[in-house]
Amino acid sequence: MAASDLADNFRRAMRTIASTVHIVTIHVDGTPMGITATAVSSLAMEPPSLLVCINERAAIHQVIGTRTHFCVNALHRDDVELAHHFSDYRMRELRFRTGTWLTDGEGPPRLAHAQASIVCALRQEHRFGTHSIFIGEVESVAVREDTDPLVYLDGVFGGFGG
Ligand SMILES: Cc1cc2nc3c(=O)[nH]c(=O)nc-3n(C[C@H](O)[C@H](O)[C@H](O)COP(=O)(O)O)c2cc1C
Repeated sequence: MAASDLADNFRRAMRTIASTVHIVTIHVDGTPMGITATAVSSLAMEPPSLLVCINERAAIHQVIGTRTHFCVNALHRDDVELAHHFSDYRMRELRFRTGTWLTDGEGPPRLAHAQASIVCALRQEHRFGTHSIFIGEVESVAVREDTDPLVYLDGVFGGFGG
């Protein structure tokens, strides 16, 4: 199969795979940064850990590796606006002005109304192709009572039930 066909088929396949939507955040000398990311996965329970995959072109890529902590905020279905703001560089100014963000000193911002927010200590970084994989060990977790996560499927934001 030609490389371009393979890439197209892979893209098509990925469009059929539903993903939950997250905002990954860090704090950099008093300035919060964040990115919308679906390439997030739990990794292990021993120790509790997860990974996030970040494109080298994203602003956060240059600095996340210099931080001690990051936060994965899984979005609730109500927060589709946040997903748009954190995935569009023209909306950078609006990002942390939308929603209720909690900060604790230089710790990464937590979204108060996230479906779940998970603060991790950065443990490892691996480079592959255009992306880096950042592995974090879970240090604290907050979970929202009502379970209705924001899901991305076939280019559209929705809920678990469609
Ligand atoms: C639904 C969705 C999921 C995304 N997932 C990722 C991801 O997992 N990793 C990534 O690096 N970019 C991902 N992106 C792209 C970034 O959110 C986007 O390029 C962002 O604008 C980069 O941050 P910046 O504007 O601060 O440079 C995703 C975008 C959307 C709309």
